[in-house]
Amino acid sequence: MAASNLFIVVVVLIYMVSLNTYRSAAAAATSATPPPLPKFPAIIVFGDSTVDAGNNNYIKTLAKADMPPYGENFPGHVPTGRFSDGKLVTDIIASMLRIKDEVPPFLKPNLSENELQTGVCFASAATGYDDLVTKLFNVIPLSEQVEMFKSYIDKLKGIVGEDKAKNIIGEALVIISTGSNDFLFNFLNIPIRRLEFDSVGYQRFLLQKLEDFLQKLYELGCRKMVIAGLPPIGCLPVQMTIKFELQTNRECLEDQNDDAQSYNNNLAQLLPQLQAKLPMSKIVYADIYEPLLDMINHPQQYGFVETKRGCCGSGLVEVSFMCNPSSPVCSNSSQFLFWDSVHPTQQAYIYLADYMVNSVLPQLLHV
Ligand SMILES: *[C@@H]1O[C@H](CO)[C@@H](O)[C@H](O)[C@H]1NC(C)=O
Ligand SMILES: *[C@@H]1O[C@H](CO)[C@@H](O)[C@H](O)[C@H]1NC(C)=O
Repeated sequence: MAASNLFIVVVVLIYMVSLNTYRSAAAAATSATPPPLPKFPAIIVFGDSTVDAGNNNYIKTLAKADMPPYGENFPGHVPTGRFSDGKLVTDIIASMLRIKDEVPPFLKPNLSENELQTGVCFASAATGYDDLVTKLFNVIPLSEQVEMFKSYIDKLKGIVGEDKAKNIIGEALVIISTGSNDFLFNFLNIPIRRLEFDSVGYQRFLLQKLEDFLQKLYELGCRKMVIAGLPPIGCLPVQMTIKFELQTNRECLEDQNDDAQSYNNNLAQLLPQLQAKLPMSKIVYADIYEPLLDMINHPQQYGFVETKRGCCGSGLVEVSFMCNPSSPVCSNSSQFLFWDSVHPTQQAYIYLADYMVNSVLPQLLHV
């Protein structure tokens, strides 16, 4: 071998060794010092059953999750009104960020001063951006959630004073999660809005409602807002049940997933524009579609053995009052992606919360 060739080989070898050293050093660095967790004094939640911590327990509606087996994995095994076997993403995030272990529903009587200061949940199961859906179930529309938020702010001012209250609201992590019910009940399963809108038109209608809602929250002092997109709604067990007569070969409904993705893309484009319009705001899109689809497509990586039906009852249709003490449940809900025919298990929510804290919330910090 000529000397110059040997030289090249040695240089390449040194380069490769240093590259590997660099990579493992980088890996070690990231595992030793994870990026600092964002800090928030409080967490404030708006939306539907994906985040309702039990407000519907206190109103007259059929959309409730106030009896077993709901809550079977919640601390104390209590059915709190949360539509899952345990905690919701918002509870888990609050806990990971060391704000508190559970986000209480605002309608719960006698909230302590500390609970109020660290944030509450205004969400109501079965609500949506479109008031047509809230009338269908007699639940709390977003407009009413804003009114509840106003009375919350008044209570907070009474506890900590005007300036501190303003500061808490401005620094709070605000999470908004809704939209699925609009598609399911106004467009896909009950096509009322189809008389007026095509899919794209209805998406625009919903996004206009969201824009108005965010504007109101901004005017009330919110600055750090995270808005969840739609899940792959064509993969919800109940949607597959409605579509497939033979329940042996259930598959995600691609057309419904396409609608969800299209809405999500438009939402993700809209939010930076809103942020630019509202000075000092951070308005961030939370993609829940891809993380959930990844769990559906690679269940074994998550310890799931069932992703096409819920753990409660037959898993094909049961949700809300149909999932009740007479429903049999699967032996290990951690092996199921879905708890009932619509809502994920606590185990799935743990993965989603992890994704949110590591990939979504840090975006609230960048200016
Ligand atoms: C709420 O507080 C009031 C006054 O302190 C008390 O009388 C009432 O029993 C409490 N209610 C609940 C549900 O704890
Ligand atoms: C339930 O399933 C999970 C995930 O597969 C597993 O890690 C866990 O050990 C199981 N628990 C019981 C009690 O079998």
